[in-house]
Amino acid sequence: MKYLITGGAGYIGSTVASALEDNGHTPIILDSLVTGRVEFTRQRIFYQCDIADRAGLEKVFHDHPDIQATLHCAARIVVPDSVASPYDYYHENVCKSMELFRNLNHLGCNRVVFSSSASIYDVVPGFMVTESAPLKPGSPYARTKYMMEMVLQDFCAAYGMRGIALRYFNPIGADPRMRSGIHVEQPSHVLGKLVDVAQGRLPQFVLTGTHWPTRDGSGIRDYIHVWDLAQAHITALTQFDTVFERAGNPEGGYLVINLGTGHGVTVKELVAAFEKVIGRPIPKCEAEPRPGDVAGSFANADTAGRLLGWEASLSIEQGISDALKWGELRSNILHY
Ligand SMILES: NC(=O)c1ccc[n+]([C@@H]2O[C@H](COP(=O)([O-])OP(=O)(O)OC[C@H]3O[C@@H](n4cnc5c(N)ncnc54)[C@H](O)[C@@H]3O)[C@@H](O)[C@H]2O)c1
Repeated sequence: MKYLITGGAGYIGSTVASALEDNGHTPIILDSLVTGRVEFTRQRIFYQCDIADRAGLEKVFHDHPDIQATLHCAARIVVPDSVASPYDYYHENVCKSMELFRNLNHLGCNRVVFSSSASIYDVVPGFMVTESAPLKPGSPYARTKYMMEMVLQDFCAAYGMRGIALRYFNPIGADPRMRSGIHVEQPSHVLGKLVDVAQGRLPQFVLTGTHWPTRDGSGIRDYIHVWDLAQAHITALTQFDTVFERAGNPEGGYLVINLGTGHGVTVKELVAAFEKVIGRPIPKCEAEPRPGDVAGSFANADTAGRLLGWEASLSIEQGISDALKWGELRSNILHY
């Protein structure tokens, strides 16, 4: 079966594309390459196109009228950039997603899986969030994800579409077969920085925020292997109607599912696991939290178990060693 992936030249979209192929399906990639990598689209059906480009989308569906569902991964995702340039983020993420959803509806593709984010949750006592936990997106980026969800939900209620919002926690690792991985040259997330320190691209790891009300004072996250994430997407895409049936076909045609491991890991615990995997300590220091940082959260993933029959299966150590392997191979594939 064919599935459209917007943002399929990015980290998560390209991993889902690989997993779809491994399961005998055909991903159709639509990506403007504004941040994604053409190398991740090689050997794949690829349209270099903006998500808001109506003519471009019409061409995709003209060429592939048998697309079963769309995974909407395309977005700008850098939190500090969203603080500095909110117009760009609201325009690129919210306005353009509105156009995409409308055009998909006009083209008759009414099944949408949406890459949402756990960054829209408020911090709750105990840090574990279910899908009904209070929302409090803390940055312009997170607010764009929240607004995109609201738009999709309203479109589903009004226009006969159906949507599954998958709220991701903290993806780590790479495709275990190393077809793709994190592509940003200077990663802003914790594991990317640890890999850069271990491989000599950064002098030391700066642990930002050590006075949060967590068990060791560092932030708490739910690190999930990107390959586990990809498996959940495959089910959401390929069993889309069954997932709705399992949910009792809710009126409004919109579902929200957390994708996390269900276990919180603090940043200090991640650093310790990283040092264990590489077999040596890394240079590190502590600093104040960055603007917009929060204590964090981790997923209650029961809904994913019930509706997708999915649970995370790869360990944090597997995620770390795949990230390290990708860090070594990246320059051969991406030339930086
Ligand atoms: N990486 C994370 O930690 C994380 C966590 C939670 C949610 N998400 C969500 O997952 C999705 C994918 O994230 P990622 O880490 O793969 O990011 P990424 O930057 O690697 O991929 C995003 C892709 O979207 C493309 N794109 C952006 N704007 C576009 C547009 N207007 N038209 C066409 N293509 C466009 C980019 O070129 C890129 O290939 C995003 O929606 C993000 O909000 C990511």
